[in-house]
Amino acid sequence: MKVGINGTGLTAREIIKLVASNDEFADLQIAQINGRSMTIETLRDRLLYSTAQGHSKLNVEIKKEKSEIVVNNQTIKYTQTTTPEKIEWLPEVNLLIESTGKFRDISKEDSNPRRHFKSPNNKLRGIVVSAPGKGGLEDLMVAASPNIEEDLGKIMSTEPFVFGGASCTTTATVPIVDTLDEHFGIESCYLTTIHAVTRSQELLDGAHGWSAFDTLLHTTGATKATNEVLKKKIPLDGIAYRTSDKAGSFIQIDAVLKKQATKEEILAAFKKSKYAKYISYPKVDCPPSSYIRGDTNMVMIIPEQITIVNGNRVIIRGLYDNEVGYAAHFLRLIKLVLSKMK
Ligand SMILES: NC(=O)c1ccc[n+]([C@@H]2O[C@H](COP(=O)([O-])OP(=O)(O)OC[C@H]3O[C@@H](n4cnc5c(N)ncnc54)[C@H](OP(=O)(O)O)[C@@H]3O)[C@@H](O)[C@H]2O)c1
Repeated sequence: MKVGINGTGLTAREIIKLVASNDEFADLQIAQINGRSMTIETLRDRLLYSTAQGHSKLNVEIKKEKSEIVVNNQTIKYTQTTTPEKIEWLPEVNLLIESTGKFRDISKEDSNPRRHFKSPNNKLRGIVVSAPGKGGLEDLMVAASPNIEEDLGKIMSTEPFVFGGASCTTTATVPIVDTLDEHFGIESCYLTTIHAVTRSQELLDGAHGWSAFDTLLHTTGATKATNEVLKKKIPLDGIAYRTSDKAGSFIQIDAVLKKQATKEEILAAFKKSKYAKYISYPKVDCPPSSYIRGDTNMVMIIPEQITIVNGNRVIIRGLYDNEVGYAAHFLRLIKLVLSKMK
């Protein structure tokens, strides 16, 4: 059972790098990547070097005549076809990671990921979108979705299936909000994320937004998505500050709890939660970008930065690698899906 990826962007490249280099994902095989304007030579260079992530130290070679790229021990076919209906997916590609950001809305004809199922002779059994689903497309997340086994069973019982893997900010928010709610009850909650730059921002003021060199106030879908993934109705709102920082994002959760809590009780709750193995605890004695880079957890919580006001208002501060942290947790979902596709 092999995987194909549509898109060669920041997220897709971190997914490829993790599969090629991280033991946790050693049993995954990527058979094909489909890009748009990126040549195979540029793809090699971008897999080797990244402004946000540094030098990957992977062994990346090109077999130009076969249009293949070999990343460590993964031999991957490279195609460049922009129209989903025309991509020639190899017959061994049974699960597709849709990572262009363009095809994730099942209510619209143009941006519907299901367009891939019309491609010639494809053997696709399902698609997982590496982004929040739109137009009614459900999002699932390992450890977070309360009925993930049941939900996957339902979604995957009808092939070919499609669902989403939520966003990087949702992936970082869920462990904090869910743990606080399980242990202390959340009366109301406000999320603030200070997000690293992404390619959806404009270099300077343009048709689609203001310059990435300013700090921009932006809505975040993570509040709604968090409740959807958790199947909860926590009163939750929030804002995203979009910055020009190149690596890593901050998260702050400001919650009024139903019970009084101490800092020690809150930390203990995180350490025994179902998210415990996906949370790390950095020390803030060096610039954040130097230690956040490459962190494969859902979120890093800064213990020294937990503040309690008046006994029941808690402020948790943390960080997440919006590229690698997201890619890793998304791949955990892909592993689970593949294990059920035998
Ligand atoms: N970056 C993050 O921090 C992050 C984290 C979590 C989730 N996500 C989600 O992941 C998705 C991708 O984000 P990203 O940051 O990786 O974006 P990105 O770096 O802009 O990459 C998008 C890629 O898709 C390619 N593409 C666009 N249209 C295509 C088409 N019709 N056929 C084939 N390839 C096409 C682009 O090709 P060109 O090279 O020609 O432009 C580019 O390689 C988004 O939905 C985003 O919300 C991003």
